[in-house]
Amino acid sequence: MSAVAAPSLQPNAGAPSDASAPVGIFDSGLGGLSVLRAVRAVLPHERLIYVADSLHAPYGERDDAFIVGRTMAIGEWLVAQGAKALVVACNTATAQSIAHVRERLAIPLVGVEPGVKPAAAVSKSRVVGVLATQVTLRSARFQSLLDRYAGDCRFVCQPGHGLVQAVERCDTSSPELMALLESYLKPMLDAGADTLVLGCTHYPFLDRAIRDIAGERLHIVDTSVAVARQLERLLGASALKNPDASPAVAPRFFSTADGESQRQLAASLLRIEMSVEHVDIPARSAESRTL
Ligand code: DGL
Repeated sequence: MSAVAAPSLQPNAGAPSDASAPVGIFDSGLGGLSVLRAVRAVLPHERLIYVADSLHAPYGERDDAFIVGRTMAIGEWLVAQGAKALVVACNTATAQSIAHVRERLAIPLVGVEPGVKPAAAVSKSRVVGVLATQVTLRSARFQSLLDRYAGDCRFVCQPGHGLVQAVERCDTSSPELMALLESYLKPMLDAGADTLVLGCTHYPFLDRAIRDIAGERLHIVDTSVAVARQLERLLGASALKNPDASPAVAPRFFSTADGESQRQLAASLLRIEMSVEHVDIPARSAESRTL
């Protein structure tokens, strides 16, 4: 995943311009917590609001209008909560809707996309595996990344059917999950891949499982830290970075589902004891129909 920045956005009349306002982070579900982890490490003084749209996960098997409608609805909800910037911590939502959101929300915006460029830069065998959702892999944005940055590398692209669902139920190591993951990684290894792009923010939670299968044969490209640094640059450029003297505040977590998996995953993998607030964010169905 790499950072996707909006070009020099000016906050509109209704948008906050207060550096102490929170940053909104959202994903179809729990995957964006891997981005939140990086944002907390890079920007420990920022207040964060995280929304998991777990009621509607996975997005990777939804149609484009649905994904745009959900991204807009959640983005607007976060702006209504006072968010000064938005991180779309979902490759699938970024692929389908970042341009649309950028036109409509006048706050700094960061998206994520598969790390094709860093992978092409490090691969020695010139064969790179990509695991991402089907929607991301078939998107024009992803094709454009390959056209621009693949160079002489061969990219072996594999939709990770079933992996988002496994992470959503906090399954990162069951025999079934390991067998599924192995069936995705083996053809890449057999093709000579030495690098693996994690093109979905849920997949960093499978890094130990990937290591158990591939050992040291795959260099894993996860750009969540690059996303956090891009957010830092954008906040700085907009004079919205919370001063380092500000006290660290625990993030607020919301889920459109019951939030139990989110609480478990955060406790086991991020070592954050969180309470998760339930939120209903209705779809913007009228707009979705016109897309
Ligand atoms: N974390 C999302 C991504 O990065 C998962 C998409 C999905 O819900 O299928 O693409």
